[in-house]
Amino acid sequence: PRIVFSGIQPTGIPHLGNLLGALFNWVKLQREAAPEDKLIYSIVGWHALTLPQDPKALSAARSDMLAVLLAVGLDPERSIIFHQDDNLHHAELAWILNCLTPMGKLKRMTTWKVRVIPLHALAKLLTLLKSRLAASRNARDDSEVDESLLNAGLFTYPVLQAADILAYRATHVPVGEDQQQHIELCRDLAEIFNRTFKAKRPLFPLPQHVVTTSCRVLSLKDPSSKMSKSSPDLNSRILLTDTPAQVHSKIRGAVTDSQMGITYDPIERPGAANLLNILAACTGEEVTAVAERYADKGHGQLKADVAEAVEELIKRPRAEFERLREEKAYLAAVAKEGAEKAQKLTEVTMREIRTRIGLV
Ligand code: TYM
Repeated sequence: PRIVFSGIQPTGIPHLGNLLGALFNWVKLQREAAPEDKLIYSIVGWHALTLPQDPKALSAARSDMLAVLLAVGLDPERSIIFHQDDNLHHAELAWILNCLTPMGKLKRMTTWKVRVIPLHALAKLLTLLKSRLAASRNARDDSEVDESLLNAGLFTYPVLQAADILAYRATHVPVGEDQQQHIELCRDLAEIFNRTFKAKRPLFPLPQHVVTTSCRVLSLKDPSSKMSKSSPDLNSRILLTDTPAQVHSKIRGAVTDSQMGITYDPIERPGAANLLNILAACTGEEVTAVAERYADKGHGQLKADVAEAVEELIKRPRAEFERLREEKAYLAAVAKEGAEKAQKLTEVTMREIRTRIGLV
């Protein structure tokens, strides 16, 4: 049987990338699951703490994300839906894994590097300025960067993610392409643990990355980068809560190119390719088949149809979300039940882990 685990940060209303790359796939896995499969979906509040959060806003986002998961079609009877921070075993296992994780592996993680590289650049610039000012040729090249401003949680973030997955001995992890490196680290840590604490059978299976065809939805304003929650340009992403008018206007404003006709060329024409991918994901067709239909049409027609398809896709979950987010008592009951089920599953694994490492 499969054990599916995935998580999403409670950092605001999900965008089309979260929906197509992850959440709708979670629902699809739920629909296709065999009765003995386990599906476990978590709202990962501890991961959100790696960036500064306003406590009031975080608390609201935490509750809203649970409403989103139910609104898109996850069923608490079928899937375990819970808040990561309600199951302390994740933190316990994260600590144990931290003590098995080489720092070098974490330094190579993209999520860390995108924070550290700007610091490196700044340090280089400062050194340059200093040496110019002093006009001295032997000014020290200060390549040693001050990472001390970054919090340690950001550094060990992928280890907590590995703990989320391994605590359930998950076999399948449905996430977008941006999470691939984290899943690889998780497999590495599973292997290290299995090797270090050998018993009759290895404790952890090596989890597989499950991707959708739309595992990388691009920014509508800059198709060289992925659609993300953190871009300052609100028109670069479509949110689950966008009105039909907003959906249409954001897609009408998507950056494409000035070539005539439509072809699917992710390298040379990433903007159009992104729209074709989105349309294919909405209609369930192959992207090449979609592209053929638009070969002789213009970008205007493609955009109008994409907007229509996206609106159709989010219409129901959007209405469901608006209704469910107000149902505080129901949400609390779902969270409580989910937490109990999650703890029960991880208790068994944690007992085995504590025995293997000698903390009993
Ligand atoms: P998060 O909260 O950033 O994103 C949630 C999911 O959305 C996917 N995603 C995208 N997919 C396609 N195109 C995009 N533009 C796009 N942007 C985001 C992400 O790949 C992800 O699947 N570290 C994780 C949360 C996490 C987790 C876990 C996931 C914590 N523990 C254990 C799996 C297993 C994260 O920050 O996702």
